[in-house]
Amino acid sequence: MSKKKKKKKAQKKELIKQIPDMSGEFQQRFQKFHDELRWLYMELYDNGSMFAELCERLEQFYTGRKDSLKALDREREADPNWYKQNDMLGMMFYIDNFAGTMKGVEEKLPYLEQCNVNYIHLMPFLESPEGRSDGGYAVSDFRKVQERLGTMEDLEDLTESCHKKGISVCMDFVMNHTSEEHEWAKKAREGDGEYMSRYFFFENAYIPSLYEKTVPQVFPTTAPGNFTWLSEQEYFVMTSFYPYQWDLNYKNPRVFNEMMYNFLYLANRGIDIVRLDAVPYIWKELNTQCRNLPQVHTIVRMMRIVSEIVCPGILLLGEVVMEPEKVVPYFGTVEKPECHMLYNVTTMATTWHTVATRNVGLLKKQLDTVFGLPKEYLFLNYLRCHDDIGWGLDYEMLAAKGMEERAHKQYLNDYFQGYAGNSNSRGELYNADPVTGDARFCGTTASMCGIEKAGFEQDDAAIKKAIRLDVMLHAYMFVQSGIPVIYSGDEIGQVNDYSYKEDPKKAADSRFIHRGAMNWKLAEQISDEKSVQGKLFGQLKELEAIRKREQVFVSEADVRTIETWDPAVLCIERRYGEEKLIALFNFSEFDKTAWINETDGEYVELISGRRMTASGVDIPSYGFYYLKKIQSAEEV
Ligand code: GLC
Repeated sequence: MSKKKKKKKAQKKELIKQIPDMSGEFQQRFQKFHDELRWLYMELYDNGSMFAELCERLEQFYTGRKDSLKALDREREADPNWYKQNDMLGMMFYIDNFAGTMKGVEEKLPYLEQCNVNYIHLMPFLESPEGRSDGGYAVSDFRKVQERLGTMEDLEDLTESCHKKGISVCMDFVMNHTSEEHEWAKKAREGDGEYMSRYFFFENAYIPSLYEKTVPQVFPTTAPGNFTWLSEQEYFVMTSFYPYQWDLNYKNPRVFNEMMYNFLYLANRGIDIVRLDAVPYIWKELNTQCRNLPQVHTIVRMMRIVSEIVCPGILLLGEVVMEPEKVVPYFGTVEKPECHMLYNVTTMATTWHTVATRNVGLLKKQLDTVFGLPKEYLFLNYLRCHDDIGWGLDYEMLAAKGMEERAHKQYLNDYFQGYAGNSNSRGELYNADPVTGDARFCGTTASMCGIEKAGFEQDDAAIKKAIRLDVMLHAYMFVQSGIPVIYSGDEIGQVNDYSYKEDPKKAADSRFIHRGAMNWKLAEQISDEKSVQGKLFGQLKELEAIRKREQVFVSEADVRTIETWDPAVLCIERRYGEEKLIALFNFSEFDKTAWINETDGEYVELISGRRMTASGVDIPSYGFYYLKKIQSAEEV
């Protein structure tokens, strides 16, 4: 930096310090949280000067935040349940796959509005070395957009345009690791001790081998082990994910502070939802699994406080892909909340188990667990995302029904590859581990529902059946409380994309099978009711409209499951005020009867408008009903 620039920067810094905060807003928020933040910080780092630096920078980020964003913060502070309404619908996509560039996404906003979407998750778009990026999850610069996608200004333009249309924008904050090409990693590679201390470096294999005794592997096949040997430097570096993703050492307060500054820098670009990527992994201790350690929660709580002080309008979405007992603590407590939202991952995996077994028993139990949680806890519901589906099910319950873990996982993987159980699914395994016999699964929703196979075989009856299953699964997802998020392309039934196999940078990672580019040619057919796209899109749109219109879908509603006495039929009841909805879903390819007996009056089926009673309800194969209790004659 030139002397002149430095001087200007220093002057600006002084000026920022001097600007009086007219509203005292920052001070008020700061005072509210200061003691707790200081307590947590000192407990973890015992470093007063680094804490002072953090506080000073918080004020700078507050001052630098645009007025329009501050106004949004205030609006959301006044209505803290803004994201818990029944009109929320998300869509996730890679920018290049969806629209080429950031500007391209802006041009596609009308399509997203047509999809009723008011929340978009832009998959990783920060600078990341091509070919060694793990789908963008190896960030080499947290303040630079990948050149091929656009610039930071484009991002600000996009978030601004989205806000004008009432659309919130989500992005990933990959906080567990950086790319090996990140400036810190480069300096560490050169032997700079200050930067080496931001990662985990070991001179020999001794300590790494101790870690390996207790730390499971994330990618047992594509990236085995948790350490990478740097032959030139003659050091081991910790890499829980791919060898080019170096784990950050959050024991170093410099790492925490700098990552908070990166987080705030991004928040100030207009981001509304920050997805905390791989958050359970951020703290490491020998002789532990290095997952979900108590210090992780201290860090997430501090991050929540930091955002409450600087940018209270934003939401933290924790990526905790684990069993329910491990997920729920990331909400924190009602007095000391951590994440605003978490992925409903076990429900997602259990849903596909139900598709493969036509038995709703386990799903019913899982849903009852989720429905029994405090209503402040908001889940992000999804049928699939950019990652594989791991078979994290309640095997204790399954064992009682004679389903042993390994054999059942094998069945599910066989089923979804189309090899077993009268399956029409298509897809591929992911990280099949020869040692544990474990494997996860990849495929788009449409392919897993049979649209790919039926289309290939040009079997009209099978296509209809597959569409019915696909729509039923969406209807079931929409009936749960929380925010439903659709993976872009699923709304038009896009099938698996096998072209990744021809790209040497992707071929080893089968998750790319369900990350294909949006097929805009197919999307042109959404108004043609005879096409697969038109049928799916049209029916989803109708369901979305119902969800948005009917108050009973709000997150504060009371929700429970009801026994149907048919193993393939799931019944979910929602109640809000006087309103009551009985939703029925048939997970089998045979017509069924739900042996429920709600004798409290007449119901109207919200899709067909048909008047029905809610007892002994016949449901066609892969069919569903949204039965709303009729209150008075005028309502019908
Ligand atoms: C998250 C992402 C996944 C990525 C991993 C490592 O789990 O969803 O795609 O591989 O983090 O960053």
